[in-house]
Amino acid sequence: MEHTFVMVKPDGVRRGLVGEVIGRLERKGLILERMRLLTIDADLAGRHYGEHRAKPFFGELVAFITSGPVVAMEWSGPKAVAIVRTLMGPTNPADAPPGTLRGDFGTIITENIVHGSDSPESAARELGLFFD
Ligand code: RTP
Ligand code: MG
Repeated sequence: MEHTFVMVKPDGVRRGLVGEVIGRLERKGLILERMRLLTIDADLAGRHYGEHRAKPFFGELVAFITSGPVVAMEWSGPKAVAIVRTLMGPTNPADAPPGTLRGDFGTIITENIVHGSDSPESAARELGLFFD
């Protein structure tokens, strides 16, 4: 059994896609363990996306992720990390196939609806940032 961190990003919340994201993960068979609505501040954004601090898009990424409320969640299930990444689709919605969250609902790379941890180690770190 694995646990992973999933977040509906500000664009997903603004566009009313929280239920869509949760429904897809539920119907897949994953279990919702914890959930909170919050607005991320610059400090938490920097810690969550610390691996990208030196990238050219970091400023845009932080401005976007702090631009409105997000829904932060812990999900569990067998292979939960990889399963969530599959349901999300590739980072750039332009490359994401229909049937994935990013493929069905996104157009540009910054506003790509949802975040999911990329490994069990990232999941443990990210869950620690967002939950007690
Ligand atoms: P995430 O962490 O948000 O789940 O997305 P990811 O693993 O699929 O992609 P990652 O490489 O971790 O990038 C984090 C977020 O940064 C934005 N990004 N912009 N302009 C660009 O070239 C660029 N590259 C990445 C995306 O919004 C991505 O979700
Ligand atoms: Mg990532």
